[in-house]
Amino acid sequence: LSQALPDSTAAIGVIGGSGFYELFDNAETVPLTTPYGSPSGAVTIGEVHGRRVAFLPRHGSGHSVPAHRINYRANLWALRQLGVRQVLAPCAVGSLDPAIGPGSILVPDQVVDRTQGRVSTFYDHGAVHVSFADPYCPVGCAAVDKAGAALGDPPRLGGTMVVIQGPRFSSRAESQWYAAAGWTVVNMTGMPEAVLARELAQCYTPIALVTDVDAGVDAGESVTQTGVFETFARNIGRLRELVFRTIDELPADQNCTCGQALDGVVPSLPLPGGP
Ligand code: ADE
Repeated sequence: LSQALPDSTAAIGVIGGSGFYELFDNAETVPLTTPYGSPSGAVTIGEVHGRRVAFLPRHGSGHSVPAHRINYRANLWALRQLGVRQVLAPCAVGSLDPAIGPGSILVPDQVVDRTQGRVSTFYDHGAVHVSFADPYCPVGCAAVDKAGAALGDPPRLGGTMVVIQGPRFSSRAESQWYAAAGWTVVNMTGMPEAVLARELAQCYTPIALVTDVDAGVDAGESVTQTGVFETFARNIGRLRELVFRTIDELPADQNCTCGQALDGVVPSLPLPGGP
């Protein structure tokens, strides 16, 4: 897979979720194509306290791409082409725990993939099996924790995010089943995004904003798209602040095991954006 690499680079990438379509007021738009097609929307690069950060709206600007149609491979590859090694992934989630209400911000430490039919690997040939026991970057998660504490708005740490195929929300029975399994929150985009980042040896850190209490936990009308978007809109300022502050807390270079995800697994993979 050879392609011209863009002139612009950024070591940190942010993939913004529903309602999170812009990160910077002034940003350079970088035209990008990948061997997997186009990313969801225009990638912009801006500076956060002197560090270059790439931003990609996960659903495209104006939310044109629903979760089940996102070209996750193109999104992660496009960021890798820019040199992105650490990915922050804000997203909207429903709560499966009545103690965790809308407006809570959570950094899950586990994931359950209940999506179907999504292309979920870069490696369709040979034996390439990355470790995924711990799906998220411990350094990134600690950075979100430290950033939230500094802002006086600490996130909840830990919990399991179950990712459903969508685009529909869960039935009450499905939702009760997820809650009974001990899972904490539910969303539609967390996979295969996290595993594709791991397959490119990138750090991946989810930052989940609870927008609703899911159907099996809430006795009322439960989750609606309007409710999800309204709660997101009310909290986008907080989430943006947390993302900016987290960027300050991230190390200059990867200093965890995420960057070694392919060591001994793929002998010499021509990843874009350098080794
Ligand atoms: N995203 C936000 N809320 C959700 C829910 N309840 N189920 C699935 N995805 C969601």
